[in-house]
Amino acid sequence: MCGIIGYTTRKDNSVEVAVNGLKNLEYRGYDSSGIAFFDGEKIDIVKAKGKIANLDDKLASQDTKACCAIAHTRWATHGEPNEANAHPHNVGKVTLVHNGIIENYAVLKEDLKAKGYSFNSDTDTEVAAAYLDYCYSQTGDKLQALVDACDSIRGSYAFDVIYEDEPTTIYATRKDSPLVVGYAHDGNFAASDISAILDYTNKYSLINEGEFVKITKDIVTFYDKDLNKIEKKSETATWDANQYQKNGYDHFMLKEIYEQPKVINDIFERYYTDCSYKDIDFSKFDKIHIVACGSAMHASLVGKYLLQTYGKIPVMVEIASEYRYSEELITPSTLLIVVSQSGETADTLAALRLAKEKGAYVVGIVNAVGSTIAREVDKCIYTYAGPEIAVATTKGYTSQVAIFSTLALMAMEEKGYLTQETAKEIKEDMLSIEPKINDVIANREKYLDIANDIYNHNDLFFLGRGIDSSVCMEGSLKLKEISYMHSESYSAGELKHGTISLIDKGTPVISIATDEKLFEKTVSNIKETKARGSYSIFVTTENHGDDHSEFADKTIILPKTTDFTEPILTVVALQLVAYETAKLRGCDIDKPRNLAKSVTVE
Ligand code: M6R
Repeated sequence: MCGIIGYTTRKDNSVEVAVNGLKNLEYRGYDSSGIAFFDGEKIDIVKAKGKIANLDDKLASQDTKACCAIAHTRWATHGEPNEANAHPHNVGKVTLVHNGIIENYAVLKEDLKAKGYSFNSDTDTEVAAAYLDYCYSQTGDKLQALVDACDSIRGSYAFDVIYEDEPTTIYATRKDSPLVVGYAHDGNFAASDISAILDYTNKYSLINEGEFVKITKDIVTFYDKDLNKIEKKSETATWDANQYQKNGYDHFMLKEIYEQPKVINDIFERYYTDCSYKDIDFSKFDKIHIVACGSAMHASLVGKYLLQTYGKIPVMVEIASEYRYSEELITPSTLLIVVSQSGETADTLAALRLAKEKGAYVVGIVNAVGSTIAREVDKCIYTYAGPEIAVATTKGYTSQVAIFSTLALMAMEEKGYLTQETAKEIKEDMLSIEPKINDVIANREKYLDIANDIYNHNDLFFLGRGIDSSVCMEGSLKLKEISYMHSESYSAGELKHGTISLIDKGTPVISIATDEKLFEKTVSNIKETKARGSYSIFVTTENHGDDHSEFADKTIILPKTTDFTEPILTVVALQLVAYETAKLRGCDIDKPRNLAKSVTVE
């Protein structure tokens, strides 16, 4: 949540570069933004409510020549999104931008008030600025002041700081929020992630927790908390700036949906050619816990189904923010799998740290290379899905499902459950998935037709059993987050235990039945809703025929594959129904209200 960027340069274009970088961070939050820059005499601060375009408009009417700037895009935690609460915050000699949450800000604020400080915003960040100013007033040393302030601050933070008496140098540090340094031809950066700087450089270094950095236009110096210098090598990013463009698509979400056939195919091909995680020994553990948030948790539920059904391993899936309440179940013989597209989700990170404290072995399924979760797990399985910009995940989710498919296959192999015949069937299925996903995507007219049927309703239900019920949860979340329609996902057999009272004449019900064993039971549940007037949209596979008019008003027919790939095909159809519906409702598809891509607060 929140994105920050700082840039100090030999030229005078730091504002233009920082705002451009900020636009690539807008997925991290977009309720307000701001920039501080040194105009040669003093530090100017410009802020705007709403998207970065509003900040751009304000900056257009003034002279912005500057050799050093720090900028911020916000997802509000403390205080409503308005200009007063937007960053940067200036107190005394300190101006800073912050990503994270200062948990003990109330105590610090009282202490600072007693020392004579006053405050103009409701934010925790202004308190951090004041506290740093106070520390600086005590030591007169900028790095030491930052170390001292961080000693007293509890919570998560990535800071870019400039001091009034050295306004062309950026001081930076982080804890539990990401921050990278970038080395460009004309100057140096400190930004929340590489996407912000890729237009200018692909050379970067990760700032580790507890490291402090002094960044001038010519030199970047890293220090530990005792202010000993640290040598650090630069790394080269493999993602290029082009991957952060829409490349002709109307939305990033659509582009990312269309990237799925290749992303999934690559995962399966890697499994059969060069699989780096085949050495995970399931027999060493007496239980598997899978922990994640949101869509990653939904992917985990598919993973649970596959690992339990095919690997015959008991699996518990838990929402990361609840996992700490299962603490007593975590032992050294627990295999914890954490799943995260961004690799920065605070709840998931907290769960992984707790499990490591308890001696569990932690495997991560992560997309963002070099992210905090990727670095802290014992073993990281990268999905390599490439940058995902749309706030609503698509390829992030399906790539996680694909990794779980391979893990279930591994467990079967290891336990001797995989016959030659089944191995051949699954391999052929996985390696032929690309054209099948393309076929599902190609059915765009059908999804638009369904979107036209449902877009002006306020309530909608998803029903399924077994593996389909996990996919329903993701379909429902996709629709909710981008179209703002209320939707619920229900296990088909559970509806009659209460929720069926909500089914009324015309209520849209999207039901999924891809599993042969469960087909008839699910159809019975659909008929129960139909008898109460529902508008029935039925998603099934080609082997069940194509006439379902007895209980379905509209039907989506998918290619028939195995459980190892079918959830991917199903969800792609649901992603496109959600996309078309959100478009008809005129929603901001890539940046839905109130959300942020990377949730770095607990
Ligand atoms: O980056 P992560 O996979 O850890 O993110 C987890 C959730 O915040 C994320 O999946 C969220 O639910 C998305 N908005 C879903 O589209």
